[in-house]
Amino acid sequence: MFSQQLRIPGPTPVPPRVQRAMNHDMVGHRDEETKQLIHSIQPLLPPIFGTKQDVIIIESSGTGALETAAVNMASAGDEVLVAVTGAFGDRFAAICEAHQFKTHRLNTTWGEACSPDELKTYLLGHPNIQVVFLTFCETSTGVLNPVKELAKVVHEFSDAYVVVDGVSSVGGTESNMDEWGIDVLVTGSQKALMLPPGLAFVAVSERAWKRIENNSHPRFYFDLSSYKKALGEDSTPFTPAVSLLFGLKESVTLIAEEGLENVYARHRVMRDMTRKACKALGLPLLAADEFASPTITAVKPEHFSAKQLKTLLKENVNLNVAGGQGHLADEIIRIGHMGYCSPNDVLLCIGLLETGLSKLTGADTFGIGTKEAEKEYFRFISQNKEENA
Ligand SMILES: Cc1ncc(COP(=O)(O)O)c(C=O)c1O
Repeated sequence: MFSQQLRIPGPTPVPPRVQRAMNHDMVGHRDEETKQLIHSIQPLLPPIFGTKQDVIIIESSGTGALETAAVNMASAGDEVLVAVTGAFGDRFAAICEAHQFKTHRLNTTWGEACSPDELKTYLLGHPNIQVVFLTFCETSTGVLNPVKELAKVVHEFSDAYVVVDGVSSVGGTESNMDEWGIDVLVTGSQKALMLPPGLAFVAVSERAWKRIENNSHPRFYFDLSSYKKALGEDSTPFTPAVSLLFGLKESVTLIAEEGLENVYARHRVMRDMTRKACKALGLPLLAADEFASPTITAVKPEHFSAKQLKTLLKENVNLNVAGGQGHLADEIIRIGHMGYCSPNDVLLCIGLLETGLSKLTGADTFGIGTKEAEKEYFRFISQNKEENA
């Protein structure tokens, strides 16, 4: 009867306004109404990506967006480099390998960020690399890779293009695609954009469009040129997910109403509340403070099973957090705090975590993390008040 607290790093809760918008009667996908809908969404997307370019919308999950970026930017035999910092970097590399690109992997220990110095050394040693694939927020570890610095290194020490997986970061943390020199930035709908799964987004720099137009790698549904052409007429090459588009219009309007800076500040305070609470509760965090993502926090318990805690939270207190991936599958829990999520939700989540922890370990954990989270929240609202005074 009571809804679960969905605190996984996507899909994330959908705001009621977005839900209602998606209940719109079906309309003809080639009708004027759909053209107007696409037309009205377009100006609201680029600021979220930090670009002046149009943002292409495709119908797929986030992985479809990764594959779209790959097949449009490289051809079989091209040398590409993937910075692998976790499961999603690994997926990017697997996509490149599936398309027979000559794929180099720059591996980083899971839980750590890709180092600009290591990237520089790798690029200098491999001058034929044409495209570098990066993961902004590595959702499997909660690490926010220093994409700005990494992109700078790519441009300083090579002619390669920079492709970034922003699936769990775009809309939750600042992306300055144009300023940072990102050539392709992709995301999915079910994370910080507050929609159900099903839409993916691809923003492309001017220089990358030229490469795409000259790239003969086989592709059809994911050929970005056909989306670009259709978008010029406020349309899509194939039947769009019309209901999701109605929802998208509402979700990007919500983001614009809140203001991007406020959205990012909200995500930062949710990160800080979660981390302070976990530290007070003696729960080790996988990522260092310096690289902690504002959208997801991974916790690696030392004295009890993460898997047991995850199950207990779901079954006893209706809190749904995620487990780990790959070799960390049973080692960590991942708490999502992105999209339609507020500091109030984080307080509830921490309270439930404490209740579950106490049930699992028998320790008196009540209020310990909540107090630190409340103090962080208090600092945030006090600071905001001073700034607005
Ligand atoms: C960083 C990142 N990249 C790619 C994906 C894949 O997205 P999807 O599961 O929607 O295909 C995810 C999903 O969690 C992700 O977090």
